[in-house]
Amino acid sequence: MVSPGMRRYRTRTADQASLVGPEGTDQIDLAALFGTDAPPQIRLEIGFGHGEFLSDLAAVHPDEHFVGVEYDRLRVTKTAHKCLKSHATNVRLFADEAYRFVARRLPDACCRRIYILFPDPWPKLAHRRRRLVNLAFLREISRIAAPGCRFGFSSDTHGYACQVATNLSLLPGLWRSLWPELLRIDVPNRFPTVFERHKREEGCTIAQLRLERTALPLPPRIEPPAVADLPDDGDA
Ligand SMILES: C[S@@+](CC[C@H](N)C(=O)[O-])C[C@H]1O[C@@H](n2cnc3c(N)ncnc32)[C@H](O)[C@@H]1O
Repeated sequence: MVSPGMRRYRTRTADQASLVGPEGTDQIDLAALFGTDAPPQIRLEIGFGHGEFLSDLAAVHPDEHFVGVEYDRLRVTKTAHKCLKSHATNVRLFADEAYRFVARRLPDACCRRIYILFPDPWPKLAHRRRRLVNLAFLREISRIAAPGCRFGFSSDTHGYACQVATNLSLLPGLWRSLWPELLRIDVPNRFPTVFERHKREEGCTIAQLRLERTALPLPPRIEPPAVADLPDDGDA
């Protein structure tokens, strides 16, 4: 259901549309997208929701280039509206599913910062396989992160943050924590997201990860052997 406040974002103005990137399946040419001579290294926010964090951050870093992906189209238009209001025209927004977008549309080592803030938590055990930030997704995140890229993850579902930390340990040597420990609780943020504010008002504590990509290349994906290549029981 669309709330009365969101109804006005059903139609995108031409100005708002100028911040929305082209749909498609091809890899994005970041230089063409931002009109720069060389492809810029971007800051990427995944699942930006109502877009406060992205628009605030982009407004204080006018020399940088920001990309956001969010599959709710009304939120994409609303965020374009906010970016224009705060003069953050250094943002390009994509209405897409995040795994598809990252895997198909972003080139290797194109990011200098990646943020995933309060992804849908799917707290029920039966729904956990729907969580976006699984091992396959973290592999793609590791591919698009340039050496030195920082990755921030926050969730009030502490088990989700632990799951991300465990999955990262299955990509050994690719990431190091910026803290002596892998995970911290309740680190204050300069630009809290809408969700973070709501959760804090409800009295929740927030688990956070802050990591940095090392220069180690991504190891080749190990495909499981085809059934025909497996020894039959007689070889055991
Ligand atoms: C819980 S909200 C958090 C929004 C914002 N990051 C915040 O902290 O306020 C999660 C957001 O991620 C978006 N989202 C969830 N799964 C997604 C996916 N697979 N691809 C793109 N966006 C997704 C949802 O539409 C929603 O806006």
